[in-house]
Amino acid sequence: MDGTLLVNCALSALGGFLSYRMIKEFIPIFLQRGMHGNDQCKVSNDKVPEPLGVVTAAVYLIVMFLFIPFPFFQWTTSEIDKFPHEKFLAFLSGLISICTAILLGFGDDVLDLRWRHKLMFPTLSSLPVLMVYYVTNRSTSVIVPKYFHFLLGQQIDIGPLYYIYMGMMVVFCTNAINILAGINGLEAGQSVVIAISVAIFNIVQLIRLESQDWYHYLSLYFLLPFIATTVVLFYFNWYPARVFVGDTFCYWSGMTLAVVCILGHFSKTMALFLVPQVFNFLYSIPQLFHLVPCPRHRLPKFDPNTNTVGMSMSVFKSRELKPLGQFCLAVFQTFGLLHRREFERDGEMWTEVNNLTLINLCLKLFGSMHERSLTILLLSIQAFCSCVAFFIRFYMASLVYDVVH
Ligand code: UD1
Ligand code: MG
Repeated sequence: MDGTLLVNCALSALGGFLSYRMIKEFIPIFLQRGMHGNDQCKVSNDKVPEPLGVVTAAVYLIVMFLFIPFPFFQWTTSEIDKFPHEKFLAFLSGLISICTAILLGFGDDVLDLRWRHKLMFPTLSSLPVLMVYYVTNRSTSVIVPKYFHFLLGQQIDIGPLYYIYMGMMVVFCTNAINILAGINGLEAGQSVVIAISVAIFNIVQLIRLESQDWYHYLSLYFLLPFIATTVVLFYFNWYPARVFVGDTFCYWSGMTLAVVCILGHFSKTMALFLVPQVFNFLYSIPQLFHLVPCPRHRLPKFDPNTNTVGMSMSVFKSRELKPLGQFCLAVFQTFGLLHRREFERDGEMWTEVNNLTLINLCLKLFGSMHERSLTILLLSIQAFCSCVAFFIRFYMASLVYDVVH
């Protein structure tokens, strides 16, 4: 194994240990300072310290900063004129984007930011990595599936569209984890499953291909400390949650995934690992864009009598529904993806629909269940999607493309 990777593993282990100690130390401090949220799916409506993601993010940054010299050490002692400035830039730009995501997340936790900030800020934070991509790589070509070669040739250069695509990937990733959230263990759990899947992908590629070494090592350097610190956070966030991860964690986690796939040149493969998040986003669109009324919280509804969680609903006057919203709901209903009830109250027609999240959809399909079972179900779906992603990436892709790395 590469020596630098060994150092990264050792520092990650240290990061895991530090996270454990620091979370324990900071729980009472957060409570004392009034930094907590209410666990909405518990009888007691307990106060849970939040956002503890900021502690693990801080540990992550410490680990990453300590690690900076190691991948570049050999060039500092000799051959300084051959120092790989491009690689160094890539590494530092990734860290800048991650730092800004942590700052945005903490801002959101403290100030409850508006949606426009959540879209604008990540767009700006994507600039460091996109700039480095521009000056070091510049490749904006996409490989065309072999069935379309006769029409488009083997590759097409999509120019600026490529940068727009990568910028959108960053904005999507930073928000994707945060909108698939609200039950104990889900935010940290899904991040662990995705990060481990990507790390396995990187290791497989390192074994298969020597030509792309740097990209996959770079991805592992970012991911292993992330996995080590997040597994510890997951342990504390698991049902019944002793800590909440907060938006700080969600944005940090999303940005880390975005950074590794952009700098590692595997954003399409990353999209395969994010299928549940993509589905949740598409399904959420009518509420995110206010075509259908969207409450402040869309997390499942707790039933204290049975100690289970069930679908949470939005109820609104039928005439308030915009035509486009009406259309989206009709499409979801056709595919059996919607609970909808119309009823009359005080001479007006009202509509009740489930809040449009993957969590509520699972509850519609499988019925109410214990919160822990729901987290296990959603994490199993995530893991299953990772298996399918590997199958598509390593088997199906060669059926569609001539050259698959
Ligand atoms: C996002 C979701 C929102 C969801 C919320 C839950 C969108 C557009 N927004 O909002 O629908 O309700 O995340 O995280 O999809 N909480 C629990 N149990 C948990 C985790 C969180 O009860 O396991 C509650 C706590 O009261 C906690 C709060 O959710 O304080 C955190 O919500 P916050 O992260 O501020 O919500 P948003 O990210 O704005
Ligand atoms: Mg949140």
